[in-house]
Amino acid sequence: MSTVTRDEAPLDLDAYWMPFTSNRAFKRAPRLVASAQGVHFTTSDGKQILDGLSTLWCVNAGHCHPRVVERIRRQAGELDFASSFGLGHRGPFEVAQRIAALAPTGLDHVFFTNSGSEAVDTALKIVIAYHKLRGEGARRIFIGRERAYHGVNIGGLSVSGMQANRKNFETTLLGNVDHLRHTQDLRSRSFARGEAATGAELADELETRLIPLHDASNIAAVIVEPVSGAGGVLIPPKGYLKRLREICDRHGILLVFDEVITGFGRLGAPFASQFFGVTPDLFTFAKGITSGAVPLGGVVVKREIYDAFMNATGPGVELFHGYTYSGHPLASAAALGALDAYDEEGLLSRAADLAAYFEDGVHAMRGLPNVVDARNLQLIGAVELDPRPGEPGARALEAFGKCWERGVYVRPIGEAIAFCPPLTVEKSHLDQLFGTVADVLKTVA
Ligand SMILES: Cc1ncc(COP(=O)(O)O)c(C=O)c1O
Repeated sequence: MSTVTRDEAPLDLDAYWMPFTSNRAFKRAPRLVASAQGVHFTTSDGKQILDGLSTLWCVNAGHCHPRVVERIRRQAGELDFASSFGLGHRGPFEVAQRIAALAPTGLDHVFFTNSGSEAVDTALKIVIAYHKLRGEGARRIFIGRERAYHGVNIGGLSVSGMQANRKNFETTLLGNVDHLRHTQDLRSRSFARGEAATGAELADELETRLIPLHDASNIAAVIVEPVSGAGGVLIPPKGYLKRLREICDRHGILLVFDEVITGFGRLGAPFASQFFGVTPDLFTFAKGITSGAVPLGGVVVKREIYDAFMNATGPGVELFHGYTYSGHPLASAAALGALDAYDEEGLLSRAADLAAYFEDGVHAMRGLPNVVDARNLQLIGAVELDPRPGEPGARALEAFGKCWERGVYVRPIGEAIAFCPPLTVEKSHLDQLFGTVADVLKTVA
């Protein structure tokens, strides 16, 4: 039995099967967080740790933001739960209205879920049902992308492209899925500052390979992360997303952006679609909507899609889909608090103010031992290390552990070390973040 002793009582670590974690390694050497405030965690043994990843790309307003805390506290004592199945309460209506006001024009209806994974599966189901309603029920094929991460549910995993996540489930995944190539190419596009100048033509594969193979009349949607985080921080080449949009338009294919990481200010705009100037037909969100404080996700759809369901279905329920906790009062309260914080502190554009400083910090690691790439866009970035022969991922994992010991939290993803600090971060924090990673990389053989 692995135990750690906290102030109040010994803690048995055994029963909890931790997600996406080496349970055996963690329980041998646990890293326990006791509290968090702003851009810092405090560990159970009292150490301050700078959160260089907004925890998991979530805490855009910083930890325990007073606006979020206050709203949750008040809500918990007022209305703990009311279902949204045939009942209503103010919270989700207000949140939906505020998200619609932030979203690109025309994307103005919001379906709530509890997570990014549920948001993706919901988006895929809306796409299929929408085509069916319009008499185009043959459109059932989804196009995802290699190295994409769209969560862990069966639909999202099917359009994802991360081998480690898929390999045990290949035979269970949706059959009607194909994948675009990913956009990473370290030979020709390493050390790009922001969007790489070349590579937009990778989008053409949709029209030159996948559409001829499957026929456009059978393709329901293309789903991509505008910037992928969990796949290792992959920044699209300049013009790539625009080309995807144009091809989708030419063939009546819906374009879904998975904005679970990019939503709510990560790229210096409310959503990535505004940063890139490319408008999808639907997009998902989660994480930053509550600044991580309470689970909440959702799908924003354009008006025509919502109207199709309202106008083309018989009386009664228009979409047989939803989660018990869709539109939960506490999640709605947290979202309203986070949206207030974003608004009052100008956080949805703050990444743009810090982008140049952040970029210099990321690229200052060029030339350090084993660094084969540095990449960034607004307030998300990564350095990539040469794999240690025969030990994939080991260098990044070792660097992560050493950074933690030195008071900085970053995330190892394969050979990459990812950075995604809260939007409230100061330049001095960025100095600490990149300075620590640089010092550590000098010690990782
Ligand atoms: C783009 C994207 N989609 C979906 C998800 C899944 O979100 P969740 O873990 O809330 O289910 C993630 C999580 O990182 C993500 O990055």
